Amino acid sequence: GKSAANSSPGLLGSGLASPPAEGSSSPPAAENEFFVASDVPAILEHTNEVIYLEDGEIADISREGVRISTFDGKSVQRSATKVTWDMSQVQKEGYPHFMIKEIMEQPQSLEQTIAGRIQCGVDSEPVTFQELEPLREKLSHPQKVNRIVILGCGTAYHAGLVGKAFIEKSVQLPVTVDMSSEFRYNSSVVTPETLVIAMSQSGETADTLAGVRHAKAHGATVIAICNVVGSSITREVDVTVYTHAGPEIAVASTKAYTAQLAVLSLLSLYLGGLRRPHLTDDSKKFLQEIECLPQLVEKVLVQSAFLQDMAIRYSKFDRFLYLGRYINYPSALEGALKLKEISYIHAEGYPAGEMKHGHIALIDDEMPVLCIVTQSSVYEKMISNLQEVDARGGRVIAIATEGDTEIGNLIQDGVYLPPVHEFVSPILVAVALQLFAYYVAVHRGLDVDQPRNLAKSVTVE
Ligand code: M6R
Repeated sequence: GKSAANSSPGLLGSGLASPPAEGSSSPPAAENEFFVASDVPAILEHTNEVIYLEDGEIADISREGVRISTFDGKSVQRSATKVTWDMSQVQKEGYPHFMIKEIMEQPQSLEQTIAGRIQCGVDSEPVTFQELEPLREKLSHPQKVNRIVILGCGTAYHAGLVGKAFIEKSVQLPVTVDMSSEFRYNSSVVTPETLVIAMSQSGETADTLAGVRHAKAHGATVIAICNVVGSSITREVDVTVYTHAGPEIAVASTKAYTAQLAVLSLLSLYLGGLRRPHLTDDSKKFLQEIECLPQLVEKVLVQSAFLQDMAIRYSKFDRFLYLGRYINYPSALEGALKLKEISYIHAEGYPAGEMKHGHIALIDDEMPVLCIVTQSSVYEKMISNLQEVDARGGRVIAIATEGDTEIGNLIQDGVYLPPVHEFVSPILVAVALQLFAYYVAVHRGLDVDQPRNLAKSVTVE
């Protein structure tokens, strides 16, 4: 599934006659059998032992074994890593596409993401990240970390934008979010007191990897939030916090995104706890709902037939505007990206408050406006934006909260989500917008899992 434009990270699957890792249904490969692949899922049915190649290395494979050396001939010793992913995770298991399988898996993937990170009944430091212990001292001191920069591309960048709101509220530290491709060439201030958080599902995105190197060269502390164990980015950062979402095969990122948001929400509470030991009542509510994410997401997934029906009705339109504010402005960006990349419909995500400064000129009944108007601190502001769209003859699809009676006559269609803390809402909104995009693309008869011109891991600039 890679485009020809993308080179691949090196990866060898080795058949060293060893049993599969515990909990894995991957069979052991026959003795002295080797596989070459760009990604683990491609070889998981043969082996669960992999050797990762670094840049500038060559593997010489023969029946006798594998010899790794650098381009200038120096021999490299590297042992195989056991992958704990399960074969069932890289098969469709009865679903027509990986994307819908991965959307539906989110209650389980979120369960794995939060597992072991919330200490029930513990009032001080109720969130724990064992992997961050080596950085605890540094992260606790305002003089040692005085600024955070979050990096990512595409969906990972959108997760970073949500993370900024989480962290600024909880830690009161300035956070900037940069697209990795911009960060590596702009004049962003990076010092030894900067904490850089690199977001990446694959851990192989070239721009994010280059951003990590740039940050390290300027003395920053760098954390990765990543899904793929042992990937390139995780090998270069100070510490990796894994999202544990399981393998994501579809090009369109779904469960990796919600896992990133779950990690960022917990990370914000963790960082906040290091500097201010007791949680506020608001943070306690936020944490309680993070714990309930699997059940909350189930409540969105049960609406899939309703979302399918709605998506079919809207699949004939050629352009969409997605509007949101504050914590759900990134949700508008992400929802629009999902629709664009798999249905080839032009969709733009925009902050609703900016509409008057230009986008309002686009409003007509040929461009549905999808408004994220869940209960939040900016709810009334969103209602004003809905009125503006309605007054200009626009078609509004609302993503709203169950029981909302105020929006009724302003909208054409509504999807109603469970009432939650406003910081939890981006995860529920994401799931609804993933389903909407998926069913539009399916109805258009498109290759949902491998959309044209796109690759799962963008390993070139
Ligand atoms: O593997 P990464 O998270 O670093 O990938 C970043 C983007 O390429 C990725 O999120 C892309 O935007 C997806 N196709 C979005 O669905």
